[in-house]
Amino acid sequence: MSYVAPSMARARIGILISGRGSNMVALIDAERQGKFDADVVVVISNIESAAGLTLARERGVETLFISHKGRSREEHDQLMIDELRKREVSLVCLAGYMRLVSPLFVRAFKGRILNIHPSLLPAFPGLDAQKQALEHGVKITGCTVHIVDEELDHGPIVLQRAVDVRDDDTVESLSERILEQEHRAYAEGVARILDPGFRLNRADE
Ligand code: GRF
Repeated sequence: MSYVAPSMARARIGILISGRGSNMVALIDAERQGKFDADVVVVISNIESAAGLTLARERGVETLFISHKGRSREEHDQLMIDELRKREVSLVCLAGYMRLVSPLFVRAFKGRILNIHPSLLPAFPGLDAQKQALEHGVKITGCTVHIVDEELDHGPIVLQRAVDVRDDDTVESLSERILEQEHRAYAEGVARILDPGFRLNRADE
């Protein structure tokens, strides 16, 4: 999959969430601290009660609730595409967005959708990545910022941060340490792909 650099104009970021929104907050804070050259212009949730919607509003970011209920994946994604385009969003960040995006959505923002996942991909894709890591007995796990393609937790890797697994770790304690790294990694990942010099380093590029 080829990477298409966002336009030269200051990037406009849309964030998709479904819940707590701590990575979303980390991105908004990073923007305000000038850690990357972009504006977070809208946060969209498919869940009306998502705590992240309140956190975004408190920070003065526009929020939208777009329910997926009673809609096909494509219908729901098309509504999101329309709203993102209206706001001239050039980079979409999935931050705890608990749905697979459709090929339609991937094509609409090709190479310009990022996701954060709480493992060192390609290990432990899917749900409960921290639990999967503990059950497997790995000694190092972490988090991955990657470009979204049509497969779950699969696209080209932008950045990873490692976290040691301790003998006495529980899913909660490990998740907490990974989350700290996620917050740093996501802002760094955004900065990295917005850098005009950014190149993917993959054999199939
Ligand atoms: C994070 O662990 C993220 O990696 C995963 O879902 C969780 C979302 O947490 N995709 P939050 O909503 O950002 O707090």
